[in-house]
Amino acid sequence: MSRILILGSEGQIGTELSIFLSKIYSKSDIITADLNKKTDTDFKFIKLNALSYFDIENVVKKYEVDDVYHLVAVLSAKGEADPLNTWKVNMTSLFNVLELARKKLIKKVFWPSSISVFGDTSPKNNTAQFSIKEPLTVYGISKLSGESWCEYYNNTYGTDVRSIRFPGIISSKTLPGGGTTDYAVSIFYSLIKKEVFKCFLNKGTKLPMIYIEDVLRSIRMLMKADKNTLRIKSSYNLSAFSFTPNELYLNLQKRFKNFKIFYESDYRQKIADSWPNKINDNYSRKDWGWKPKYSFDEMVEEMIKKVSNKLNNE
Ligand SMILES: NC(=O)c1ccc[n+]([C@@H]2O[C@H](COP(=O)([O-])OP(=O)(O)OC[C@H]3O[C@@H](n4cnc5c(N)ncnc54)[C@H](O)[C@@H]3O)[C@@H](O)[C@H]2O)c1
Repeated sequence: MSRILILGSEGQIGTELSIFLSKIYSKSDIITADLNKKTDTDFKFIKLNALSYFDIENVVKKYEVDDVYHLVAVLSAKGEADPLNTWKVNMTSLFNVLELARKKLIKKVFWPSSISVFGDTSPKNNTAQFSIKEPLTVYGISKLSGESWCEYYNNTYGTDVRSIRFPGIISSKTLPGGGTTDYAVSIFYSLIKKEVFKCFLNKGTKLPMIYIEDVLRSIRMLMKADKNTLRIKSSYNLSAFSFTPNELYLNLQKRFKNFKIFYESDYRQKIADSWPNKINDNYSRKDWGWKPKYSFDEMVEEMIKKVSNKLNNE
């Protein structure tokens, strides 16, 4: 069994990935690391800044880490407030991990990219793996550059780095960290708290999304796949379902008649408008057998249940 390090473990994906992987690995083989501990899990936790190569290398050596799940990033909406810092965090932390792999101090890397690599000039519907990519945000630019570097390390050094271009992720454990699809999580909190929901995107903005359980399963599937079957060395398109704020609202209002929404779009609208409506994930399906389990309706049911439980136990 491998020993793994999750960098950025206290974020939206990390908090759920550590628990998910603890069903596969022994808990003592999972090391979590972040700038600060934010959750109450009892995994081994190291406080570190992923901008320091030596801090990560020390952890890798001390705990004899095999695989790194590198989740550190400044996300799309938050990233626009300080573009140079976003570039620095997203790129330096990735290079630090790629270099550890190049030096054979670790065996395998997982690094998530995002649909933000696409832009206004990409086809909106059924956006293909190799469609035009002219990202609008510094986050998207960093993800697209990161993808190219992953491909370069794969091709040049034989580094085993695997990546998925995630759509907007919907989950309940930890609030999202400043992305353009965050409304699709916060709407459930307003629903359960019986508040009127203010949506920062227009009602007709269709975006690709995915439920966290499918995110975790996709990461596991890709990391387990035979390297020789993986034709994409940069990052794999991945798809589950797409919806608009209005479609989500109507779905919730069917169950909670008095739920109200109003729309007040802000700077995030422009980012959302530049992203695809629906992604074509044929390469993931063919190369490593990807198929989502959760439909839009099933995600809604799960989120209502989980957010209700969470708020009732607070
Ligand atoms: N959440 C989504 O909808 C989504 C979609 C596509 C791709 N992704 C990608 O998945 C990855 C994880 O996303 P997330 O939603 O969990 O993000 P998040 O913002 O919730 O978590 C990121 C974590 O990284 C930590 N971090 C930031 N800078 C750090 C540093 N210098 N050193 C150590 N830790 C640092 C933060 O404290 C945070 O806990 C990111 O690469 C993101 O781009 C996320």
